[in-house]
Amino acid sequence: MLLSQTQAQPVSNPTYGAKVSSLSAAAGDFVQLRNVYKSYGENLVVMDRMSLDMRADDRLVVIGPSGSGKSSLLRVLMGLEGVQGGEIMFQGKPYIRGADQSGSKRIDAKLQKQIGMVFQHYTLFPHLSVLGNLILAPVKVLGLNKADATERARKYLARLGLESKLNAYPSQLSGGQKQRVAIARALMLEPKLMLFDEVTSALDPEMVIEVQNVMLQLAEQKMAMIIVTHDMHFARDIATRVVFCASGKVVEEGAPADMFKCPKETRTREFLEKVLYLD
Ligand SMILES: Nc1ncnc2c1ncn2[C@@H]1O[C@H](COP(=O)(O)OP(=O)(O)OP(=O)(O)O)[C@@H](O)[C@H]1O
Ligand SMILES: [Mg+2]
Repeated sequence: MLLSQTQAQPVSNPTYGAKVSSLSAAAGDFVQLRNVYKSYGENLVVMDRMSLDMRADDRLVVIGPSGSGKSSLLRVLMGLEGVQGGEIMFQGKPYIRGADQSGSKRIDAKLQKQIGMVFQHYTLFPHLSVLGNLILAPVKVLGLNKADATERARKYLARLGLESKLNAYPSQLSGGQKQRVAIARALMLEPKLMLFDEVTSALDPEMVIEVQNVMLQLAEQKMAMIIVTHDMHFARDIATRVVFCASGKVVEEGAPADMFKCPKETRTREFLEKVLYLD
């Protein structure tokens, strides 16, 4: 047994356990990757004909060694980078298709708007207040009027315990508050899927918890999420499925209880032993 003691509080939703135990159900068609191929230059393949399925009620946690392509996967899903081959379907519709060797983007912009992403490093606009950061995209991308966008911003800030920070500037916020504002900003577009790329790895421990709690709250609200994290305890608490990637491939995937207790593949076991030991 590799991981048995919990450090973080699991989702308090009473149905959580039931959801986790129903994981053996067939993989869904909310997100489907089919033979996706992506390389940087000729030699560095980061997605090596990768295939993956995700259900709308999944919280997929992606783990793997540094440089294994986890961020690349999320950046591709966010439409920030193209792929050279394969296909990605989102909600059953073609979303991204492989292009030529240049990896130029072929993406459905309408579907792209339904995905939100939060990055490891703070990405708030420093010259805008929290409110300014939150309403920018809804006004520009969705064409929402300012009053409606402001009302929506208040709603999300209140939900994330940040209502008093409406007029603050990013420089006046702690790291944890900045990341919570970044999450609120992504939620403003009311995405159907949220991507989180190591959003707590630059934070002090007490701030890690406040950001993780927000993510657990989203999990209770059944938000579909793909989370890249090196925090295996959090991974086990929030995931419905864990995906171990190495060398651009999915080496193993499964329910967190199985993956962390008895990984099947040697490569997964070696990785988990290493990171849990370092933990
Ligand atoms: N724009 C780029 N151009 C060239 N190479 C890149 C680019 N972005 C990433 N890479 C390389 O692709 C590989 C995969 O990078 P990626 O950031 O996806 O890994 P990761 O799994 O997220 O790693 P980490 O756990 O350290 O964040 C790395 O070797 C990285 O150096
Ligand atoms: Mg990364």
